[in-house]
Amino acid sequence: MERTFAMIKPDGVRRNLTPEILARIVRKGYRIVGLKQMVISRETAQAHYAEHKERPFFGELVDFITGGPVVAIALEGENAILGWRGMMGATNPANAAPGSIRADFATTTGENVTHGSDSPESAERELGLFFSEGELLK
Ligand code: PPS
Repeated sequence: MERTFAMIKPDGVRRNLTPEILARIVRKGYRIVGLKQMVISRETAQAHYAEHKERPFFGELVDFITGGPVVAIALEGENAILGWRGMMGATNPANAAPGSIRADFATTTGENVTHGSDSPESAERELGLFFSEGELLK
């Protein structure tokens, strides 16, 4: 069993895609072990995306992700890290596999509806950034 951090980004929440995305997660068979809607502070956003801080779009990314509520999700399941990345599709929706969330609901790399940890190390780090231990089911 693996845990990963998933997020519905502000564009997804604003467009009322939360029920559709949660339904896909549950239908896939993942267990939701943590869930909350929140506005991310700039500090948390900068820590979350720290690996991208030298990239030209960093400021834009922080503005976007703090610009409205997001839904933070802790998922559990067999191979959940890669599995959730697969359900989301490629970062650039133009390259996302048909039927994936980004292929179905997004058109730009900046506003691409969802986020998912890309490795066990990022999953642990990101889950720790967004959830306290008491907020996660055992
Ligand atoms: S990846 O999957 O890490 O290789 O993707 P990458 O292209 O490196 O993008 C990392 C995150 O930055 C977001 N992004 C952007 N935001 C705003 N503007 C532009 N131009 C842009 N390009 C990339 C992208 O959505 C990734 O966010 P996450 O939340 O990690 O999916």
